[in-house]
Amino acid sequence: MGSTPNPVKHPIGVFDSGIGGLSILKALRAELPFEDFVYVADSSHAPYGERDDGFVVARSRAITQRLLTHEHGKIKALVIACNTATAAAIHLLREEHPELPIVGVEPALKPAVACSKNRRIGVMTTRGTLGSAKFRALVESLTNQAHFVCQPCDGLADAIERQDTTKIIALCAHYTGAMGQFGIKDGEIDTLVLGCTHYPFASEHLRKLVGPEVRLIDNGEPVARQTRRRLTSLAPPDTPGRCRLLATGDGAALQNAARHWLGLDGPVESLSI
Ligand code: DGL
Repeated sequence: MGSTPNPVKHPIGVFDSGIGGLSILKALRAELPFEDFVYVADSSHAPYGERDDGFVVARSRAITQRLLTHEHGKIKALVIACNTATAAAIHLLREEHPELPIVGVEPALKPAVACSKNRRIGVMTTRGTLGSAKFRALVESLTNQAHFVCQPCDGLADAIERQDTTKIIALCAHYTGAMGQFGIKDGEIDTLVLGCTHYPFASEHLRKLVGPEVRLIDNGEPVARQTRRRLTSLAPPDTPGRCRLLATGDGAALQNAARHWLGLDGPVESLSI
């Protein structure tokens, strides 16, 4: 019996300023185990969260363009695994690439409202996300349902990117301290939204600071389910999906984080954009 060659398998592109988007990639690989992924860490331009919108838009455009023409195969969908880039650029990228399914990430305020009994919800984000019109509109749409204590966390994504544990712990303590009392008693913040894809990698430290009963919420699984819904074709369920890792700067952080959090051992390729 003759074998028919596999049809070309187009990967799904995923990008972030650095390693943070791996928290989304992990959920994507669990939800879509047969899909191939190309992950871009824009590490030579990280962090995005304290840059102006123009800079983040220009980087998002350049990365998207590159993923659409990359020699390893044009992507069939794009996941912006970064809250800051989603807030600044998703509407423009969708206008510029109407054929490409594009999924973004926004702080998980709606799931937090569904879980919070006290209706007092902490939100940790980058300064860029917090100042965006998109985030303000999201908060306004939910203000009748809960009180949000929103905290810009300057330096935290950068410390996670550098895997500087001392600084991560100090910044997490400083920012959670500034937000108020955490716990499940009346008036306490009982739910904490991790509104930057880097922050799930600090969960262990945040958990110690806010106590065992506070819910920590991130967006990996809903984004992965949304990506599945947006795909126009799924990879055949025969061979497990592969994952290429690309970095625009030093790939060491991406390599370590991908090994540690996702068990991915492949090399990190260098990408110049
Ligand atoms: N991980 C990104 C986010 O979700 C960007 C963090 C940064 O580069 O400042 O916002």
